[in-house]
Amino acid sequence: MGRSRAAELRREQGRAFAFGCLSLSLALALALALVLTLVGVPGVTALDNGLALTPTMGWLHWERFTCNVDCIEDPENCISEQLFMQMADLMVSEGWKDVGYEYVCIDDCWLASKRDENGRLKADPKRFPSGIRHLANYVHSKGLKLGIYQDVGTLTCAGYPGSYGYYDIDAKTFADWGVDLLKFDGCNSKDLESLVEGYKYMSFALNKTGRSILYSCEWPLYTRHFQEPNYTEIRQYCNHWRNYGDIFDSWSSVKSILAWTASKQESLVPAAGPGGWNDPDMLVIGNFGLSWDQQVTQMVLWAIMAAPLFMSNDLRHISPQSKSLLQNEDVIAINQDPLGKQGYRLRKDEDFEVWERPLSNLAWAVAVFNQKEIGGPQNYAFSTAALGEGLGCAPACLITQILPVKEELGLYEWTSQLKVRVNPTGTVLLKLQTFQQHKSFH
Ligand SMILES: *[C@@H]1O[C@H](CO)[C@@H](O)[C@H](O)[C@H]1NC(C)=O
Ligand SMILES: *[C@@H]1O[C@H](CO)[C@@H](O)[C@H](O)[C@H]1NC(C)=O
Repeated sequence: MGRSRAAELRREQGRAFAFGCLSLSLALALALALVLTLVGVPGVTALDNGLALTPTMGWLHWERFTCNVDCIEDPENCISEQLFMQMADLMVSEGWKDVGYEYVCIDDCWLASKRDENGRLKADPKRFPSGIRHLANYVHSKGLKLGIYQDVGTLTCAGYPGSYGYYDIDAKTFADWGVDLLKFDGCNSKDLESLVEGYKYMSFALNKTGRSILYSCEWPLYTRHFQEPNYTEIRQYCNHWRNYGDIFDSWSSVKSILAWTASKQESLVPAAGPGGWNDPDMLVIGNFGLSWDQQVTQMVLWAIMAAPLFMSNDLRHISPQSKSLLQNEDVIAINQDPLGKQGYRLRKDEDFEVWERPLSNLAWAVAVFNQKEIGGPQNYAFSTAALGEGLGCAPACLITQILPVKEELGLYEWTSQLKVRVNPTGTVLLKLQTFQQHKSFH
């Protein structure tokens, strides 16, 4: 998949282009040139472990449960085996697994304060009395996978024993326990070189165990202050990589991640593809900080960005509305599209941003995001001629609104005006199906 399909797609679009381009304006040509530079470098080699061919989906404890280790005062919410078993139960019984959420992931603060007498890691004995191997068995018995957390440096970010000096032992321990994913943080490294070498070493160490373990890195987040990340290189070692600081349960946090991603899209977008993805951090939908419209914006733009979808929320207490958004199969299908190309911001007009993402079968996802934080719903009208690398509606396209509610918008021609109405801080997600010529001659 990928390279040959992309070539085919480009040939198809080449034909459509020849058909429809007579009145191509200079402005459109410039927009097209910009877009082609964003999507023009396909097939950079990915880590060869057969994993993350589409963005990873699951649940990760950090944003919602942080480093809560107080199981005396707060037994329901502390980081303990009970928390992960409950989430695994709910992922099956409440339909999360059916729509694709698969990995139940532990973040920092699961460890005992010291390694055992053989130098092996061990879980905190009070909070994980049955041990990680037992937890992995339990999660596997539900048809799910288990993720765990460690750090490339001497200590984890919260101060538990880190993997530095123990990469092989720790990789083997995780494989012995039946772990399926490692989130490898970047705190407490001696220097830049040992951080980078550590990330690479751990990738080899995981491979050497013979167990398929998805490798989630934070390498570019920790190195970008010193040098521009080389994504060609990072992709050879990691299945996804964090580029930007931790997400918080707030609109300002979500907004800053989107603004930063758009500002760096020339380097980020070509780096993504089957086997390796940019990770803008967890979904905080279903918590306290985002309004309904802001939750829609996060879900839509994480789908456009081909982001891993790790929910960090409390599946025991979640509103039906947030649940239906997180389980919306149309937006998940866009996130998981097999073409595996990340979307980008196409234009910004004062308060509105238009993002688009190429999908398989000559389709496109288009998001119209209203950044205004005052007033009511606003209309935004734009020409379909600019969409889909300028060719999504050449000669015509069918447009379906996916979110905030599903609605067929009908057939549009190449130069049609499209008008959407978007709430403040909200986003409208459209799916655009290019209407192929051979179909129009039935
Ligand atoms: C280890 O790497 C080799 C070569 O890149 C690959 O063929 C193999 O599938 C990998 N094994 C695991 C367990 O990831
Ligand atoms: C980036 O890494 C790749 C693969 O390791 C290497 O071939 C390339 O020269 C590097 N690019 C730069 C600019 O260092």
